Amino acid sequence: MLDPAERMSVDELRALQLERLQWTLRHAYDNVPHYRQKFDAHGVHPDDCRELADIAKFPTTTKADLRETYPFGMFAVPRERVNRIHASSGTTGRPTVVGYTAGDIDRWSSLVARSIRAAGGRPGHRIHVAYGYGLFTGGLGAHYGAEKLGATAIPMSGGMTPRQVQLIRDFEPEVIMLTPSYMLTLLDEFDRQGVDPRESSLRIGIFGAEPWTEQMRREIEERAGIHAVDIYGLSEVMGPGVSQECVESKDGLHIWEDHFLPEIVDPLDGDGRGTPLPDGEEGELLFTSLTKEALPIIRYRTRDLTTLLPGTARPSMRRMAKITGRSDDMIILRGVNVFPTQIEEIVLRTPGLAPHFQLVLTTEGRMDALAVRVEARQGVGTQERAAAAAALQREIKERVGVTCVCEVVDPDTLERSVGKLQRLQDRRGT
Ligand code: DLL
Repeated sequence: MLDPAERMSVDELRALQLERLQWTLRHAYDNVPHYRQKFDAHGVHPDDCRELADIAKFPTTTKADLRETYPFGMFAVPRERVNRIHASSGTTGRPTVVGYTAGDIDRWSSLVARSIRAAGGRPGHRIHVAYGYGLFTGGLGAHYGAEKLGATAIPMSGGMTPRQVQLIRDFEPEVIMLTPSYMLTLLDEFDRQGVDPRESSLRIGIFGAEPWTEQMRREIEERAGIHAVDIYGLSEVMGPGVSQECVESKDGLHIWEDHFLPEIVDPLDGDGRGTPLPDGEEGELLFTSLTKEALPIIRYRTRDLTTLLPGTARPSMRRMAKITGRSDDMIILRGVNVFPTQIEEIVLRTPGLAPHFQLVLTTEGRMDALAVRVEARQGVGTQERAAAAAALQREIKERVGVTCVCEVVDPDTLERSVGKLQRLQDRRGT
């Protein structure tokens, strides 16, 4: 059942990685002027890579490199060999554009197929794909993986929520792939249609594209009666399927290390050298692609914060812990770092509160102020709401170390996600 690479010994895997790393560095240096200039300026050459640890000698790559070379300047193959393009919108400036050869698409599909299999999906299953189709890598990435696995792909994309629920009832998929926040929207729609989601055909949910917590896993698993597992990826590195949680262990995401070399660096390390931290320490995740033809990516700074852990269900492939958050999404409130995931954990543990909440950042005088707006669960009365708000405020103060205003609002009043959720509204200076 498993791919041969999933059964490799650590020694075999490391040897394969080194061979592929050396190829990637040379491919990037020979075919992408931007990489050649950066390597030269850094005083390194692909020949300097004799063992895996030598990766640390090479310069890191950021979104800025992709923006500078917009749109196709990072491509390492002639434009005619680029079979597909995706792009991520980003909140500011130009989108980052990524390209794939036919071979890249084939490897990506195989890795998503491997991911779906690790999540418990099997050939013949019906897979409802509610990640957005388009320039975003979620929809098409999941779709090609589902087909490659030999499953039946149902290309729903995001939106038209009532219809999504109707077609789940009619087509009876075993597997659903979408963001965890959109899953919550679908679960509310099940309620609205008077259907118990636990009675649906769904058995497995493969959730990613945004951070989510263990508490959210429990919430979704209980409400939907499914296994909820985590899938991670980013367009600059490939798309979904860079790493995947195994359904039997649900203990973090196995990185498909035959195709990606991970590192962890200090997120505050601004000099661009990116000195790697040992496994087990939390920091910013970096990836080097090992097999990509159109867009080889060297030491890409993801901005995502996590920890590298030893393999379990796939012993030779290291795991990454669930993402704490992006360094970009970190709120610094009077010197204390706050991640939306920390608030999510506490909201979901507080009786009377629904998993729908928003963070609002404003300025009061010269200070930043954080407000948490969270929905009450159905049927929760005024007194219980006041108690929940007080409990939430107290827990946030105790566990996160910041004072914030907590407001409990009526059910169904906060805006619902249909894809990637934006938790934080930054209203400072407006
Ligand atoms: O979100 C690819 C993807 C699609 C992954 C569908 C999983 C499922 P981008 O739009 O380039 O690509 O955004 C990448 O999303 O750097 C993380 O910050 C975040 N992200 C992706 N997966 C997870 C996850 C897709 N499982 C950015 N947990 C990444 C936490 C995630 N954050």
